[in-house]
Amino acid sequence: MGRQRHSPSGPAAVARSVRQTQSAKLRLLDIGCGTGRFLGQVKQVWPRLPCIGLDLSEPYIDYARQHLRRWVLTNFLVANAEAIPVADATCDAVTSIFMFHELPPPVRRTIFRECARILKPGGRFVVVDSLQLGDRPDYDGLLHLFPQHYHEPYYSTYISENFEDIAEASGLTPVRHFNAFVSKVMVFDRPGSGASSVLGSRTAADVREKYDPGGVHHQERAESSWRHM
Ligand SMILES: C[S@@+](CC[C@H](N)C(=O)[O-])C[C@H]1O[C@@H](n2cnc3c(N)ncnc32)[C@H](O)[C@@H]1O
Repeated sequence: MGRQRHSPSGPAAVARSVRQTQSAKLRLLDIGCGTGRFLGQVKQVWPRLPCIGLDLSEPYIDYARQHLRRWVLTNFLVANAEAIPVADATCDAVTSIFMFHELPPPVRRTIFRECARILKPGGRFVVVDSLQLGDRPDYDGLLHLFPQHYHEPYYSTYISENFEDIAEASGLTPVRHFNAFVSKVMVFDRPGSGASSVLGSRTAADVREKYDPGGVHHQERAESSWRHM
């Protein structure tokens, strides 16, 4: 759905999730990382944040390794996100950028369960993907047209998928979602707090004020739903 998808939604969403002062102690996993473009943006903001990029495609991971070679604390895995080779409760943040629209519905559910498994209590899962039906009703026609022009066999199920239900069935709590042009950012937390919590004891409003004063996405958030904001 175009280059606009990465900016500013992805890094901004993670920015609101991760305390800069704790970044060296946190661990972020980007599933379906592709060529590592998003991780490159993350490392520009937090050079010492330990990051792992995971993708099914070895050629993409090879490219990502090369592309991100100047950054420390950056590792890669060629693996299936349906069976993430990472121990339980060891990640503070998991991200997925434009992968879910490519997946069959049962695989979406399997991957959500995997993300819930590997997140620490209080950890956060941020999904950036296409808008869905009803997010911007004037774009609904465009969303229906997209899979007719490109080979996107699962897109038509994606645009009506209920990610709040998937998250809850996986043990994750939907926090908020907002639109960013043709993209949509969805935020989920693994319940629990404690030392590993990326949000600590702060409220979502505190985080918004610190990382998005005045609200770059104020309008989008005003239109967003889910119950925690
Ligand atoms: C549209 S690309 C997005 C890549 C990257 N996140 C970006 O925004 O540039 C989707 C990526 O998901 C990966 N992918 C698809 N299914 C996967 C799975 N089950 N496990 C891991 N990666 C997967 C693909 O190999 C591809 O690199």
